[in-house]
Amino acid sequence: MRVTHVQLADFRSYPEADVELGPGVTTFVGRNGQGKTNLVEAIRYLSVLGSHRVATDAPLIRFGAERAVVRAKVEKAGRSLGLEVTLHQGRANTARLNRGVARPRDLIGILRTVLFAPEDLSLVKGDPSGRRGFLDELCVALQPALVGDLGDYERVLRQRTSMLKTSRNARGDLTMLDIWDEKLAELGGRIIAARLRAVGALAPHVAAAYQDVAPDGGDCAIAYATSLAEDLPQDAAALGELLLARLREVRPKELDRGVTLAGPHRDDLEITLGGMPAKGYASHGESWSCALALRVGTYDLLTSEAGPDSDADGEPVLILDDVFAELDQGRRAALAARLERASQVLITAAVAEDVPAALAGRVIPVTKGRVGDE
Ligand SMILES: Nc1ncnc2c1ncn2[C@@H]1O[C@H](COP(=O)(O)OP(=O)(O)OP(=O)(O)O)[C@@H](O)[C@H]1O
Ligand SMILES: [Mg+2]
Repeated sequence: MRVTHVQLADFRSYPEADVELGPGVTTFVGRNGQGKTNLVEAIRYLSVLGSHRVATDAPLIRFGAERAVVRAKVEKAGRSLGLEVTLHQGRANTARLNRGVARPRDLIGILRTVLFAPEDLSLVKGDPSGRRGFLDELCVALQPALVGDLGDYERVLRQRTSMLKTSRNARGDLTMLDIWDEKLAELGGRIIAARLRAVGALAPHVAAAYQDVAPDGGDCAIAYATSLAEDLPQDAAALGELLLARLREVRPKELDRGVTLAGPHRDDLEITLGGMPAKGYASHGESWSCALALRVGTYDLLTSEAGPDSDADGEPVLILDDVFAELDQGRRAALAARLERASQVLITAAVAEDVPAALAGRVIPVTKGRVGDE
């Protein structure tokens, strides 16, 4: 799959932009702050409806503008698809698919991307929320319908938590809370089941990618971490039952503290290196290699899962934002093999020499929000 054309209006620093993209590797080069990351961020936005740099959409709209538009043509399994999202200041986004009105979430899963950026170091070193986000994004890539469950779960969690707070004060009827428990447990069971499947599928790819990235570095393993049970069932309904039982158990504590204490929003992705937790133990370079292995592993999984001659054409667009300067020879070599085979790779670099000429492909200058030489 690949993106053949991108158009932006009032996205980040771009009043407008119109860029044709070829197959293979394209490298955007320009000094700091010229708009390289903004461009790949826009492309990525169409695939996950989110940014790798900010948690809210407001900074994506050009400062002072009312709305931002990102439009792209995607070639997938021999078809050309038109994707468009408009981000509105202060109200919900709108979308179009092949010129027809669509819900933004309908776009998710059409364009697949895997992005690796310096921010990914926080996957290893940062809070569990970043790793849950990573997992959920993978789950959605593997099973786009899950995006509905994830949104519903967030909503039910918010409502249940606010009810815990009011019940604590009122000390009254708790039957409503029982109803929220059931909803939360059902959705939570489905989300945990999807995450377990995703981690199971990803683990061997991450282990292999880490071997590639750091051949003398020991084994990198990932596992799903939850306090629900030692031996987890794999089935969504059974996981939901387990979660419901746990919610009943912890309710007195929850009423006391006004927080929901069990569910996928409390879980984590455990990353170990040579049997020790990567977080807190791994060196800076090892953490960086782990982060790279998570992304390369994801790329390999999504590519293999689509199958070499499947119609799904799931091979994602690989985006490498500003990472070459940080990569040593060994890590570059591990990436190089993927770059050669990938149907499309988008690279950004402040200094052209950071990207080995053999890997850089077509080089496009970016200067003050102008893409190309025009
Ligand atoms: N919402 C916005 N409105 C206007 N300008 C913005 C907005 N968000 C970011 N910018 C500007 O975009 C520029 C950053 O662009 P970008 O992150 O793409 O740089 P870059 O070329 O990737 O640089 P680097 O090499 O440092 O990573 C900054 O100058 C910033 O002020
Ligand atoms: Mg950048």
